Amino acid sequence: MKSIVELIGDKRDGVEHSEEEMRQLVSAYVAGEMPDYQMSAWLMAAFIRGLSSAETAFLTAAMAESGRMIDLSSVPGTILDKHSTGGVGDKTTLILAPLVASCGVPVAKMSGRGLGHTGGTLDKLESIPGFSVSLAQDALLAQLLDIGVVVTAQSADVDPADKKMYALRDVTGTVQSIPLIVGSIISKKVAGGANAIVLDVKVGSGAFMKTEEEARALAHELQRVGELLGRKVVCVMTDMSQPLGMAVGNSVEVCEAIRTLKGDGPADLTELCLALGAKMLVLGGVADDEVAGRSMLLDSIASGAAIERFSAWIEAQGGDPRVVEESELLPLAQYVTIVDAPRSGYITGFDAEGVGRSAMLLGAGRETKESQIDLGAGLVLQAKIGDAVQAGRPIATLYASDEMLFDAAREKLLASVMIGDEKPEPPVLFHEV
Ligand code: URA
Repeated sequence: MKSIVELIGDKRDGVEHSEEEMRQLVSAYVAGEMPDYQMSAWLMAAFIRGLSSAETAFLTAAMAESGRMIDLSSVPGTILDKHSTGGVGDKTTLILAPLVASCGVPVAKMSGRGLGHTGGTLDKLESIPGFSVSLAQDALLAQLLDIGVVVTAQSADVDPADKKMYALRDVTGTVQSIPLIVGSIISKKVAGGANAIVLDVKVGSGAFMKTEEEARALAHELQRVGELLGRKVVCVMTDMSQPLGMAVGNSVEVCEAIRTLKGDGPADLTELCLALGAKMLVLGGVADDEVAGRSMLLDSIASGAAIERFSAWIEAQGGDPRVVEESELLPLAQYVTIVDAPRSGYITGFDAEGVGRSAMLLGAGRETKESQIDLGAGLVLQAKIGDAVQAGRPIATLYASDEMLFDAAREKLLASVMIGDEKPEPPVLFHEV
């Protein structure tokens, strides 16, 4: 067996690791036998040299097996998970999980908290009074069997390798590596027990991957490695050149998700949910093709089955289901201000990350893992790319618990909205499947 120093040297020189060597690295690190400085060196070597798909699959499996593996095999049928690489205003899980479950495919998902300009699903869910994101394994299984939908926080004993490695990558300049991102995402899915996964790789100014090429390379590797590990994977690349929907924050996004489940959501968000949901229904084996899947989803929205399932899900996790009819039960920050368009014309583009940062300045996001989020803070846009705006007329509403936060947030938002004379084509939502 090689020493850890030899393995680091191998990766530095571009030598391919075997399955055993990858396991050795991950288990030594998780056991505390390989110090952070050695893992940092290995991560940087892997970042620069890259990993083959086989090595990435070995890494992913070793990470998934580094802790408790959630066993969902007692739930009949295909269990789906859905993951987005993160974007501004991305509240699709809140909609898709109950919507797809209402059509007969169980959805089990472990979600994360937001860091930086992208919000986390858990924070959004926690803006519903009483909602709990921690569930014991037996409660999780019972809920999945009962209502077919469960979204929880990743518990500390699931994929500990990812937690330790991600924290180290965050401070060693090694986050933006395709094999390391693939290992991180797929290992969590494998440990979480799903057997089919829909992955939404965001591309554009608000996304992790800013260019199509980067996003495509990530999407292909996610698919390849997911399949090497025996999971059914569908990977799509979707637009993040502007925020998804109108709301950016936590409770404001829950409100928009509820409207969407009732059939009254923004066009881009609704379309994305229908398209991803149709793929999930095909993967889950209840629809023959996406056309049939889409029509099942539309029926569920129209009949009220989708919003009823949302309500049942919220109640099952301790939340107050009355939020569905009484949005005033959701927290909303006390102070409100309107941002007016500085000139007339058409919205030609956004710096979507800038819009996310504006929401963060209002208190809706985290600068560091320890930052407290203001669940009632956020912003709601009134116009998107291609819409006409008039000088002095509103383009957004901002919510904060401290009026002093408005100036910086307004400035950031205005710097993130481009207005021109020509009406542009709206962005293409789906870049590639
Ligand atoms: N999301 C993850 O879960 N892991 C990464 O490494 C990057 C994005």
